[in-house]
Amino acid sequence: MNKGTFVVLASGRGSNFQAIIDRVSDGYINAVCTSLITDNPDAYAILRAKDAGIPAEVVSYRTFPDKNMYENALLATLARYNPDLVVLAGYMRLLGERIVDLYKGKMMNIHPSLLPAFQGLHAQRQALMYGTKVAGCTVHFVTHDMDAGPVIMQRTVQVLDDDDEESLSERILIEEHQVFPEAIKLFFEKKLLIKGRRVFLLPRT
Ligand code: GRF
Repeated sequence: MNKGTFVVLASGRGSNFQAIIDRVSDGYINAVCTSLITDNPDAYAILRAKDAGIPAEVVSYRTFPDKNMYENALLATLARYNPDLVVLAGYMRLLGERIVDLYKGKMMNIHPSLLPAFQGLHAQRQALMYGTKVAGCTVHFVTHDMDAGPVIMQRTVQVLDDDDEESLSERILIEEHQVFPEAIKLFFEKKLLIKGRRVFLLPRT
């Protein structure tokens, strides 16, 4: 049987992209990453893709007159790869309804907080400012509302008294690099069952 395929959208550093493709290489994820797509021509993730022999597609937001035209180009690029799953790994733009609807139940994002707490930018800073004792990360399916789709998996991290934004982000990132590949693995094993807002992990057979 042919393996499933996915593409990764990333805007910057791409450490989650790297963690994911490493877990494809070692056989943990039984699927093929067919492309990295980025909105940022300077994204470090592009170099990671080149190193791994994965095609990198730059659909640069700046080169389009408006969001609609940008999304047309993004849709056309996605259509060329026709992925089973779209993975948002540090993709810093809100996707429009057309794309979200097209990939309903087939698009995942990772967010560095325990959703629904601290949606949006600087989630780790928000946790510190609020003073929570536990922080973490969430992998969720993407819906129209930002950082609000059905939760697939979460990991927690203790907030330490001497944490700053950088140290807390670093420890959350360690968890992100584990939990995101795990969610993708389960998706391709067809172990994720979405029922309304809840995602059930089906038992191993
Ligand atoms: C991660 O913290 C992720 O949770 C958030 O953006 C950051 C991306 O980091 N959505 P990287 O580009 O994967 O290194």
